[in-house]
Amino acid sequence: MRVKDPRIVAALPELGVELRPGTSLAELTSLGIGGTTDLLRITKHDAIPELLNLLDSEAVPYKFLGGGSNLLVGDHELPWLVLQLVSPDPDIVLEGRFAQVDAAADLGRTVTFCAKNDLGGMEGLIGVPGTVGGALRMNAGAYGMQIGSYVRQVKLYRAARRRLETLEGDQISFEYRHTSFAPDDMMLAVKLELPSKPYREIIKGIRICNEKRRASQPLGQKSAGCIFKNPPGASAGRMIDELGLKGLHVGDARVSDRHANFFVNAGKASAKDMLTLIADVRERVQKSFGVILDHEVVVWNA
Ligand code: EPU
Repeated sequence: MRVKDPRIVAALPELGVELRPGTSLAELTSLGIGGTTDLLRITKHDAIPELLNLLDSEAVPYKFLGGGSNLLVGDHELPWLVLQLVSPDPDIVLEGRFAQVDAAADLGRTVTFCAKNDLGGMEGLIGVPGTVGGALRMNAGAYGMQIGSYVRQVKLYRAARRRLETLEGDQISFEYRHTSFAPDDMMLAVKLELPSKPYREIIKGIRICNEKRRASQPLGQKSAGCIFKNPPGASAGRMIDELGLKGLHVGDARVSDRHANFFVNAGKASAKDMLTLIADVRERVQKSFGVILDHEVVVWNA
């Protein structure tokens, strides 16, 4: 979709928004899949309500993009604009055991920055690609921890009320890969409270998680992490593996040989290829195990 309305184009600079016309979402997602649209890069949180009112008044559809690491975007020209936050400098400010982090901050860099300042707890998230906002929205977790445990405050744009709000940690519920945020809420910043730990100890934990991840996940390949959520008490990866589906492919969309719940783009996979593969694997798991797998990956398909 192209921003054509002169009223919108003229208002963008004043709102601190940079327009990048015809951006390929394949270049902004870890799967390397996705069509093109105009990208609006937002530098001022305070301008968001006005920007969105403007887009809504002209009935222009839009979506919020985080780090693009848990996302499967449709092919060809996309029927909505994409909005993305630009992270300020600095994007992490520490105060005692609290870290005030911008939603656009890189998750891995946040974990290591806090570690260097003797703040731990997030070791398990090392190696999870994406932004802090994305991790927050879906309560990212690994190796027995989840980011929600450390959240004390969240600044967000509440789409339903059309305004910026600050929520306290106890106003938000964090479950397995799920939060009480509405799908159209936009994460802006988070305050984390982290346990004090000596850097050397945190680094040991980080190394262990890195090794486990390297041994079990296809890190060098284009993927969106796990495709399906684990059903209660079971592992989606193990079930897919037990069916002998590693290596199954539709075009260049392929079930990873290393971890069966990772589907990789081994070349020029399209969204159609990936969605066909996902549907096929889901159906086979349902037939054999009687389990309906839920997507973990977010799908933006027209
Ligand atoms: N397994 C297989 N074959 C496979 C993959 C896994 O037999 O191809 C077995 C493993 O041997 C293990 C069990 O299944 O006994 C569980 O596997 P793993 O430890 O890799 O964990 P997982 O349940 O598949 C979850 C998260 C990952 C997270 C890891 C580590 C989900 C859907 N997945 O994977 O998160 O990195 O634990 O904590 O919750 C993600 O969210 O995108 C993600 C990858």
